Amino acid sequence: MPGSSKTVIVDPVFGDGGASMVALARRAERYRTYSSHEKLESDVGRGLAQRHDSVLNFRRTGGRLGRTDLPVGELGARTSYFREEYAYHGRPLTDGIERFLHHEALLTAAREVHGRPVIEPSIAYANVMLPGQELAVHTDVPEFRGLNRKGVPQWLLVVMHHSGLFDAWRMPIATGIGWFTEGTGGELSLWPDGPDGSCRLHAGGADTAMVLDTDTLFHGVDPVGGPELAPPPVRGEAELRRLDDAGERWLLVDAATGEERAEYDWSSLRLSVSWKAYCFADDAERDTWRTHADDLDEGSVVDRLVDDLRARGVVDGEPARNRELGLLLMDTYVRFPSAA
Ligand SMILES: [Fe+2]
Repeated sequence: MPGSSKTVIVDPVFGDGGASMVALARRAERYRTYSSHEKLESDVGRGLAQRHDSVLNFRRTGGRLGRTDLPVGELGARTSYFREEYAYHGRPLTDGIERFLHHEALLTAAREVHGRPVIEPSIAYANVMLPGQELAVHTDVPEFRGLNRKGVPQWLLVVMHHSGLFDAWRMPIATGIGWFTEGTGGELSLWPDGPDGSCRLHAGGADTAMVLDTDTLFHGVDPVGGPELAPPPVRGEAELRRLDDAGERWLLVDAATGEERAEYDWSSLRLSVSWKAYCFADDAERDTWRTHADDLDEGSVVDRLVDDLRARGVVDGEPARNRELGLLLMDTYVRFPSAA
């Protein structure tokens, strides 16, 4: 798979031990689960989860820690973490995020990761994890000119990148993962040398960041609080709601039913704030993206993938665009690290 294997550490990010970002995070009224944000489907792979690739791998392997004995019903509670956007399309959605979005050291690191000079910061978002939660090993959802997560299923975008067939349309994205709190567990697990290489654990101290191509490098998050903790009672449309002005106490609630499920101290939560920026070779490339001068569309992408499956002898004739085809595409192109 094409992409960058370079990682760049930024330390410190703000020089305040993480205090200003924590204050910003604690001002939010609520955090919703990642899976509640997008529920897109299309004919190919109808009924599959957005990240069916990593869910399936987690079920098969038990994750990085090989816990194949985890009850299937626990997986959702363990991996449905909370996310809220602080900036989108380069525009701040909350006060105080600008200096993170346009952080000079993140921009410099992004240039280094992809070797491309024109950096356009796009989004910043918080990832909040409860004790007992972890992040299944995955690569992030990539973007291509004309196709992103707002228009096609996430697993299909992942397949596209892993297939290497659409690299001419891929938007090289640099991701900065910023850590602003410390605690037990919750280390980033990273395969910098690809799925055949070994896993490296990175603790990510408060007020530090790592910039890398997370669309290409497999990564996950080890259990917050340690692997022996029970999963949190995350079910339904789970939301974390701030209970006091200082953001000291948080309530886990099922927004669909109003059922209150648990309370947490801020200090028991794991916060990271991610930053993503497009990395262009030059202004002309950026303009091609902005003006949609050379966009892909889903139909021709699936046709191209099916052609490749045929060439590999995996399918004959014209397979139906259905769930089975989706599973076959993931199985053929997305190769996870063996110890994940
Ligand atoms: Fe990720």
